Amino acid sequence: MTNTEPQFPPGFLWGVAAAAYQIEGAVDVDGRGSSIWDEFCSRPGVIARGETGATATDHYHRYPEDVALMRELGVDAYRLSVSWSRVQPTGSGAVNDAGLDFYDRLIDELCEAGIAPAVTLFHWDLPQTLQDAGGWLNRETAARLADYAAIVGRRLGDRVRMWMPLNEPVVHTLYGHALGVHAPGQALGFGALQAAHHQLLGHGLAVQALRSAGCTDIGIASNHAPVHAASDAEADVEAAEIYDHIVNWTFADPILRGSYSAPELAAILQGPVDDDLKTIAEPLDWFGINYYEPTVIAAPTSDEGSTGVLEVDLPPGMPFQPVALEGYPRTDFGWPVVPDGLREIVQTFADRYGDALPPLYITESGASYHDPAPDAEGRVRDRLRIDYHRAHLHALKEAVDNGVDVRGYFVWSILDNFEWAAGYQERFGLVHVDYETLQRTPKDSYHWYRNLIAAHRATA
Ligand code: NOJ
Repeated sequence: MTNTEPQFPPGFLWGVAAAAYQIEGAVDVDGRGSSIWDEFCSRPGVIARGETGATATDHYHRYPEDVALMRELGVDAYRLSVSWSRVQPTGSGAVNDAGLDFYDRLIDELCEAGIAPAVTLFHWDLPQTLQDAGGWLNRETAARLADYAAIVGRRLGDRVRMWMPLNEPVVHTLYGHALGVHAPGQALGFGALQAAHHQLLGHGLAVQALRSAGCTDIGIASNHAPVHAASDAEADVEAAEIYDHIVNWTFADPILRGSYSAPELAAILQGPVDDDLKTIAEPLDWFGINYYEPTVIAAPTSDEGSTGVLEVDLPPGMPFQPVALEGYPRTDFGWPVVPDGLREIVQTFADRYGDALPPLYITESGASYHDPAPDAEGRVRDRLRIDYHRAHLHALKEAVDNGVDVRGYFVWSILDNFEWAAGYQERFGLVHVDYETLQRTPKDSYHWYRNLIAAHRATA
């Protein structure tokens, strides 16, 4: 493993990321409404150790300290998400000014620190009232996302640098609606694709609403990774192709090509799909890729359902089966560390979309290690996380050298936080959080990232 740091072109944007429900806490203050994650966390047995985001890192109250940490880190941008339930407690209608005021203060604080805000509007925390009306299975939810986008765009658009209506619609669809292990806890199998389509429609409508509100620099944060067949056997290759189409191209093709890659999909989906595709393909200023790990897929071997890299059982009858990727180190979350997968996926995007591809950003990259509490010297020695980011940046640089237009990299995450169904044990942060005291301690990786950014500036 090399210890030299990758060199990126001048202007390359260095960022960190987080999301509202994972860090804010303060779920019942200042008029915030309930979201599907509040409801899901209240169900027994669905979240590790019964944890919830009710307090999380208490960023809602401690944001000045967190912005100061980011200022000291020297990042160009901070990717945050707005909690829809704070802005519109029931997901539609009247605006809750106290909720919107929080983001106003946060954005001001970031701007004063010289940090560009990059805002996600929907990072999986749908207002519960909208869920009660059908959530993403209800086409109306797409229109509600656009209304909410307009509200936030009008209020914050003068200071927000980058916008993303959606975060990882594939994971929200798969985990939340197909498998039921994330909120809203629906296990619909392929029936979840309707929720995917409505999220994509909401994305397109929200892009239009943001532009009407005068916002610029609009993209998406979408999870993508290479999919490989477990063997050369025809059945495995076919299974991998199906999986690739579902998890990668069903979510990128409509946006970047205005069509679904699998023509059967348009037939399965309800509603005026052809018209919707025109909205979904609203041109973007950039496209964001969240990358964590490649997937290996085999043909199903039994009707028993399967366990694999999804870390949950797939329902029986699925035409593919994720299998473990061997031969790579793993993070403490059990995810294989494959830096070249980042090079591969951005290169695949460049090859697949050619001139239709806007500039790329890596809107998330990160690793969970179960870091111990700060030692006697106050240090959290997370050498493996440093190795992880350095190796991924080297791999990304190879793609850049090969001509792929990648403009920036956001580390997931600035702080340790609530890792959804896995709770607080998984720590992705550059900054350690003690969940008893809520004390923040920059880890070794924070200092490494700060030096990397400073060196980049010095040579740019
Ligand atoms: C993607 C999601 O956007 C984020 O919320 C999550 O914590 C990270 N991946 C790590 O799983």
